[in-house]
Amino acid sequence: MNSKKKVVLSGMRPTGKLHLGHYHGVLRNWLKLQEEYDCFFFIADWHALTTEYATPEVIRESRREILADWLSVGLDPRKSTLFIQSSVKEHAELQLLLSMITPLGWLERVPSYKEMQQELSNKDLSTHGFLGYPVLQTADIVLYNAEIVPVGSDQVPHIELAREIVRRFNSLYKQQVLVEPQPLLTPAPKLLGPDRRKMSKSYDNCLFLSDSPKEIEKKVLSAITDPARQRKEDPGHPDICLIFDYHKLHSDRETIERVRRDCCAAAIGCVEDKKMMANILNNFLDPIRKKREELLKRPKDLEDIIQEGNRRAHEVAAQTMERVRSAMKL
Ligand code: TRP
Repeated sequence: MNSKKKVVLSGMRPTGKLHLGHYHGVLRNWLKLQEEYDCFFFIADWHALTTEYATPEVIRESRREILADWLSVGLDPRKSTLFIQSSVKEHAELQLLLSMITPLGWLERVPSYKEMQQELSNKDLSTHGFLGYPVLQTADIVLYNAEIVPVGSDQVPHIELAREIVRRFNSLYKQQVLVEPQPLLTPAPKLLGPDRRKMSKSYDNCLFLSDSPKEIEKKVLSAITDPARQRKEDPGHPDICLIFDYHKLHSDRETIERVRRDCCAAAIGCVEDKKMMANILNNFLDPIRKKREELLKRPKDLEDIIQEGNRRAHEVAAQTMERVRSAMKL
């Protein structure tokens, strides 16, 4: 790997299989980044524990599913380092050391702290681990000297905090030991679930990358298209139709134009359009599904891939820890 390339790092919490929203919002961007940068992508299982500590079974199961999802869409372990957070113990050591220098007030001010406590009010999130989540995230990033962290806008305050912790560390120990990261905002195209709400596991409205053709068809056919169009003879309004949004992401230019014209002229009905979309999505998902199935049939190979990623990640993390311990006179 060319060491002059900038380092990109990002992580995902393993709380279930990945869906089309993840594909368009995150993975497509990662696929581009892996061609240009020295990328580290990891499964943030310790992060998942901060909210799922009472039901950790889902974490173990999703680790495998997510790795299969990553590989099946084209993340390439020869280009990117793919690893599991809990397999590189340096994350915990660095979190501990950074926690010594992180003022409580900084953590209490992170917006997601209060927001998630309210949103997930069925879980007790008044824990040390949950408050310290952004310190762990800082450790994740700086262990690999990452300069670029692709994230959604909800995560930007975490990266800002990471930058502050890095500055405080470097200034306290009078050395440029840690690298300040920058968030890279991923433009996330609008992708609604068939019920017109944001695609999310908690709404049970996801088109999973691993769904069978039948499941995809059933879900797409259930979609609420254009509420203003009651009968097939009424002209449609593509700009408020979620299936048209799917066309924008999955169809060629010509099809998009044709559907727009035919929908506005009531020359194509919603059911027909949905059937066409189910086909388009199934054609897109077919190779992904095939690859995924093949991968899951060879658990040993998956295991080897992740072991190799863990090893490469550990190599870099261990070097950073040498510098950190020495700066802190340990
Ligand atoms: N906090 C991120 C999320 O909830 C996941 C994450 C953990 C992460 N560590 C990270 C993302 C480091 C980027 C960099 O989605």
